Amino acid sequence: MRFGLIPALLSALVFLLGTVRADLSFMDLDKPDTVHEALSLVAGGLMDYYDGTRPGGTVGMFVAPYYWWHAGAAWNAFIDYWHITGNDTYNNLTWAAMKHQRGEKYDLMVSNFSSSEGNDDQGVWAMTMMTAAEKNFPEPGDEYGWLYVAQGAFNTMAARWDTQSCYGGLHWQIFQWNSGYDYKNAIANGALFNLGARLYRYTGNITYLEWAERIWDWSTQIQIVDNGRVYDGIHLPNCSDRSPYLWTYNAGIYLSGAAALYNATVLRNNTDPRHGLWFDRANTLWNATKGPNLFFGGPDKNIMVEIACQQKTITCNSDQRTFKGIFSSLLGQTAQMVPTLASDIMWYLRASAMAAARTCSGGRDGHTCSLNWLTGQYSNDYIGLGEQLSAMEVIQNTQVLLSSGPLTDITGGTSKGNGSAGAMGFHPFGADEAHPLNIGGGDRAGAAIITVIVGIMMIAAGWWLLV
Ligand SMILES: *[C@@H]1O[C@H](CO)[C@@H](O)[C@H](O)[C@H]1NC(C)=O
Ligand SMILES: *[C@@H]1O[C@H](CO)[C@@H](O)[C@H](O)[C@H]1NC(C)=O
Ligand SMILES: *[C@@H]1O[C@H](CO)[C@@H](O)[C@H](O)[C@H]1NC(C)=O
Ligand SMILES: *[C@@H]1O[C@H](CO)[C@@H](O)[C@H](O)[C@H]1NC(C)=O
Ligand SMILES: *[C@@H]1O[C@H](CO)[C@@H](O)[C@H](O)[C@H]1NC(C)=O
Ligand SMILES: *[C@@H]1O[C@H](CO)[C@@H](O)[C@H](O)[C@H]1NC(C)=O
Ligand SMILES: *[C@@H]1O[C@H](CO)[C@@H](O)[C@H](O)[C@H]1NC(C)=O
Ligand SMILES: *[C@@H]1O[C@H](CO)[C@@H](O)[C@H](O)[C@H]1NC(C)=O
Ligand SMILES: *[C@@H]1O[C@H](CO)[C@@H](O)[C@H](O)[C@H]1NC(C)=O
Repeated sequence: MRFGLIPALLSALVFLLGTVRADLSFMDLDKPDTVHEALSLVAGGLMDYYDGTRPGGTVGMFVAPYYWWHAGAAWNAFIDYWHITGNDTYNNLTWAAMKHQRGEKYDLMVSNFSSSEGNDDQGVWAMTMMTAAEKNFPEPGDEYGWLYVAQGAFNTMAARWDTQSCYGGLHWQIFQWNSGYDYKNAIANGALFNLGARLYRYTGNITYLEWAERIWDWSTQIQIVDNGRVYDGIHLPNCSDRSPYLWTYNAGIYLSGAAALYNATVLRNNTDPRHGLWFDRANTLWNATKGPNLFFGGPDKNIMVEIACQQKTITCNSDQRTFKGIFSSLLGQTAQMVPTLASDIMWYLRASAMAAARTCSGGRDGHTCSLNWLTGQYSNDYIGLGEQLSAMEVIQNTQVLLSSGPLTDITGGTSKGNGSAGAMGFHPFGADEAHPLNIGGGDRAGAAIITVIVGIMMIAAGWWLLV
């Protein structure tokens, strides 16, 4: 960590005067100290939602309505924060949170939350564990390191691969009684793809590469990934009944997975001709992702927009308001994995970060951020964990190239793992955690009713992105 004397004196002065800066207009992306100072304010705003330090709160969780998966995304932001800025203020909280939420069998099936847990929830948390491993975030101190937990999640998720419908793929949900079991989607499958790619890169175990290839092939066959665009999912049983929605984080998950596979195939076997293939795929995905009228708007078409819910009317729910943050972190990873894309990606991240920062001037603390970065100003209507997390990730990832790239077990990574991690290690492919449970007709009827209600609500919301 670098301490500048002048910033230190300045902050002392600000402290003495008892004033807080009411916006982030002092931030200059080419002066890392100013970015770090801005980030410490934004990060503090995210931590305001943390539940674990409140009386009766749960370690690792954020306040309602934020759910378990939001916490997984938020801790990724705090690991990035530490890695990029060098500021370890939140490391102890992050460490304790991650350790507490690993799951009873260290595979991110946490009994408090697992009855409603989806493959996407487990996948987002597993990617955060992977981030911790790749950055040598301080280990939990027992044999179940961050790598182990990511492997445990990977193994339990891969065991749910279902060839009974639509030739393969993961269901969105883990359990049949949850509405959304009859949907195979990009976030669940993309998370497993991303994890497989990064686990192959980190460990060199070819099984992960084979899985990543299988998931990619299926995703393109079923056209969830189609000409570089990543669609939200397909409804069962009709395998061509595709949802039209395009979300930033889905694009980011496949993009950074392809980028990691390019990087990994060079690192692990530079005569493997597949690295050319993955380089092309990463480029195709990036070209589509930055394509016109999609995820980047504003005068120069470079300010991030969650286009499926952020149009003239804003309909983004508390999940969707988090996606730009996850996307930003994945873009930062992509820039590190495929250096030839880095300057182009930075052009988009930098414009988005400045636009996001201009919204961070509200709330009691004076640096609460809001959703719509195109407006250049704070709006009280859309604030929350997702908004704060998104601003934090986009701002800090403009600096990611100044920090070291993701590690592997042959380039300094020390996280402890085990290829047999997870419930399947205890009961190979037979555990409840690996397979959907069989449930009775009553539960199924209940689930069907919920599905219908959710379906009606979605139609009522009435936004169809026609692309
Ligand atoms: C580290 O972050 C904390 C909390 O955000 C902040 O108070 C502190 O000034 C930061 N330290 C440095 C050196 O920037
Ligand atoms: C983190 O916890 C360790 C051990 O309890 C303590 O020594 C250290 O000062 C803490 N660091 C911060 C930044 O709070
Ligand atoms: C599960 O819930 C109990 C009771 O609220 C709580 O004490 C515990 O910390 C929770 N465990 C996790 C992993 O969140
Ligand atoms: C499957 O879905 C597609 C697209 O929604 C539709 O055109 C087709 O008719 C459906 N096929 C069946 C058998 O329902
Ligand atoms: C590297 O890739 C080449 C070409 O596909 C292959 O023949 C060779 O067996 C691979 N080496 C290793 C160690 O995997
Ligand atoms: C991506 O776009 C660039 C610039 O238009 C072009 O040169 C490149 O060939 C494209 N790459 C792929 C794989 O489509
Ligand atoms: C792979 O990623 C590392 C870490 O960011 C980077 O240093 C290296 O140049 C990348 N390899 C290739 C072939 O681009
Ligand atoms: C990995 O886990 C398996 C199954 O739990 C165990 O038998 C094996 O000893 C472990 N390997 C290492 C190196 O810890
Ligand atoms: C490679 O990964 C697979 C799948 O997780 C596992 O079964 C196998 O034991 C691993 N191999 C090694 C050498 O760790």
